[in-house]
Amino acid sequence: AAVEAMRLILCTVDMDGVVVIGEGAKDEAPMLFDGEKIGNGLGPAVDVAVDPIEGTALLAYGRPDAISVVGIAPRGTMWSPGPAYYMNKLVVGREARSALHTGLLAAPVSEALSAIAAALAKPIGDLTVFVLDKPRHQKLIADIREAGARVLLRTDGDVAGALMAAMPNSGVDVLLGIGGTPEGVIAACAVRALGGAMLGQLAPQKDDERKAIESAGLNLDEVLTENELVRSDD
Ligand code: FBP
Repeated sequence: AAVEAMRLILCTVDMDGVVVIGEGAKDEAPMLFDGEKIGNGLGPAVDVAVDPIEGTALLAYGRPDAISVVGIAPRGTMWSPGPAYYMNKLVVGREARSALHTGLLAAPVSEALSAIAAALAKPIGDLTVFVLDKPRHQKLIADIREAGARVLLRTDGDVAGALMAAMPNSGVDVLLGIGGTPEGVIAACAVRALGGAMLGQLAPQKDDERKAIESAGLNLDEVLTENELVRSDD
């Protein structure tokens, strides 16, 4: 229902859109698929990234922060995740952007949090870090607590988490951890619009995904910033 509703409205918008981040094969969606033309064709040529329900399980269980989200940017500016499903992410808001450099994603968590806390001029103990509550994050969560920061755990929804990290006064200072790659590109649109900063690196969770990424010629070692995930300010 959400996919149908979003498609119906997007078709009325003055734009010559192409869906570049769609409801993927993973969700077996009948529309808003990658490559679909969207909009009434009468406006600017744009890339469109959609997630009609980001946090499907959150919505189904009546939990907070399921969102409907669309990112739009000039044609050809959104990074294509190809067959990559998972990405390791770090997101901060405008005030902490000076702390980020591409090496920080692989650095010990305590080092990244120290740099971010210093940029925000507050102790690590006052930092709140959004993390998806997944078994793969057990060590990450332990490391954040060990460093003295607080952890905000959610079962799903790291686009909302990225928005919180990028927005001032949300109560969240940082997003850390592995989530969906399409969600990473959508988050990057919001992060750029808000003046925040982001790092992302592909983090395949299964051998099949790793092989597909390698066959597609994507670089597993590259750390992307918000500026590469969406190459426009518009
Ligand atoms: P869906 O609404 O598409 O299920 O995505 C929810 C979500 O939690 C995303 O926010 C996150 O990026 C991704 O799933 C994490 O994937 P997984 O649940 O497989 O770890």
